[in-house]
Amino acid sequence: MAVREIIRMGHPTLRKVARQLHKEEIVGREIRTLVDDMVDTLHAAGGIGLAAPQINESVQLAIIQIPKLGSRYGELEELPLTVFVNPEISVVANACSAGNWEGCLSVPGLRGWVERPQHINLRYQDLEGVQHQREFTGFHATVCQHEFDHLTGHLFVDRMTDMTKLVFEDLLVPENVYHD
Ligand code: NI
Repeated sequence: MAVREIIRMGHPTLRKVARQLHKEEIVGREIRTLVDDMVDTLHAAGGIGLAAPQINESVQLAIIQIPKLGSRYGELEELPLTVFVNPEISVVANACSAGNWEGCLSVPGLRGWVERPQHINLRYQDLEGVQHQREFTGFHATVCQHEFDHLTGHLFVDRMTDMTKLVFEDLLVPENVYHD
């Protein structure tokens, strides 16, 4: 287990489509070690989500852990540490959108206002290679979209529609702030 370096916007790995993992890999030792490193790195950074490309591993793997009382996020609905392998999002028809001031460990110091659909269906595999299907709503739907965007080479800034709402975080009044 190790805290790994988080790469920042401008590093080419963040703009690649990550490759899918096949079952033999998912249950293998290398991916276990990678997930352990991601958990250590996420905890050291104090974030709520991390995708493998953020530590320069271009594979379809992300972790999310949302505490009930996040120090920076106010009171949230908890999501225990969950590992998502090969996730696929589909937005539920007619889902409402909502905005958050998103931040990213790969875009340190900045926040941007991003509006995203608030109801998604998600298919993913766990670390045993078992397929799951789950619905996520609200903030959890936002976090999933932000994290899994990293697996297709996207950053939150790509999802912004009003670039006047890209600001340094020390100038932001905390309200609907999300930082991965
Ligand atoms: Ni991010």
